[in-house]
Amino acid sequence: MESRENGSRPAGLFDPFGRRIEYVRLSVSDKCNLRCFYCLPEGFRDFEEPGNWLRFDEIERVIAAFAVLGVSRIRITGGEPLVRRDLPRLAASLAGLSGIEDLSLSTNATLLSHHAVALREAGVSRINVSLDSLRARRFARITGGRLEPVLDGLMAAKAAGFSPIKINMIALKGINDDEFDDMVEFCIEHDFTLRFIETMPVGSTGRDAADHYLDLDTVKRQLARRFELLPGVMPGGGPARYVQVAGTELRIGFITPISQHFCATCNRVRLSVDGTLYLCLGQDDRYPLRPLLRQGISDAGLKQAIVEALALKPERHEFRDKPGQIVRFMSMTGG
Ligand SMILES: C[S@@+](CC[C@H](N)C(=O)[O-])C[C@H]1O[C@@H](n2cnc3c(N)ncnc32)[C@H](O)[C@@H]1O
Ligand code: SF4
Repeated sequence: MESRENGSRPAGLFDPFGRRIEYVRLSVSDKCNLRCFYCLPEGFRDFEEPGNWLRFDEIERVIAAFAVLGVSRIRITGGEPLVRRDLPRLAASLAGLSGIEDLSLSTNATLLSHHAVALREAGVSRINVSLDSLRARRFARITGGRLEPVLDGLMAAKAAGFSPIKINMIALKGINDDEFDDMVEFCIEHDFTLRFIETMPVGSTGRDAADHYLDLDTVKRQLARRFELLPGVMPGGGPARYVQVAGTELRIGFITPISQHFCATCNRVRLSVDGTLYLCLGQDDRYPLRPLLRQGISDAGLKQAIVEALALKPERHEFRDKPGQIVRFMSMTGG
């Protein structure tokens, strides 16, 4: 439902539960050059046909419509967004849209060393990099890829002036739970922010990874044996709850979709590469925009469609009660 400029609500886009939606996660490719075992199955090739990908001009139209409705933050994600050709060109046009104040990117960083400068110049301000291990053999087992280009990409992002650079580490019992201290040290050394994330049962891969689920209270207790953690820093607008490591600049965020969900403050929707608007990561509610775009919908009609879609946003995910219900892979909606 769209708010009334002069009515009882402030301007903006609201869902049926009164949550203000001001953030779009934009998947520009469902393809990926890695195969993180909790995300995409080995050998998976059943990706969306290129003819069904939203073109850059279509993406710009949709994001411009969101911006008019009050969305100010966009995160480009995937799949791996950097496998989409000319991504910096898209980033530059999105950063230039009136109303877009914050453009960020989630990436596995394998290709980042080639694109960091162009992305920075295009107006991307913040970068999140997935990194579950600093040990090359273990990294290869988790992702099917090589660690070295990822580290090169991170250093290129640092040199290009991105700040903050956030490392997203999925906490995985029996896989990387002996590496949390090392990752803390690495992030202190390089001035990165570190976020731990609980694994979610999205797709068959996500469900299989549930065997390695680790609740982040356990991770925090483990870290507290070695580091003094100061609570209550950087509450921010996102789902992470942060602590600071005493005597350092390092902030560590804990993202707990399973052990302590944060749906009541959800502020986002997701646009997939095929132009489907997903209203919740953990539910199937969706609204296809591509057919409307290709039938020549007007700007006013597009805004109306977005407002209608928002009415479908569910109250919360049900990862705990119904872990089997999301069959699509995380790479479709970008996490
Ligand atoms: C789908 S990836 C897309 C962007 C990019 N390829 C990357 O890895 O950062 C976005 C985020 O989703 C996370 N993710 C993927 N599958 C997940 C799962 N089953 N549970 C929790 N997070 C997951 C990844 O770790 C990553 O931080
Ligand atoms: S988490 Fe990111 S890097 Fe890993 S397979 Fe999924 S999309 Fe690719």
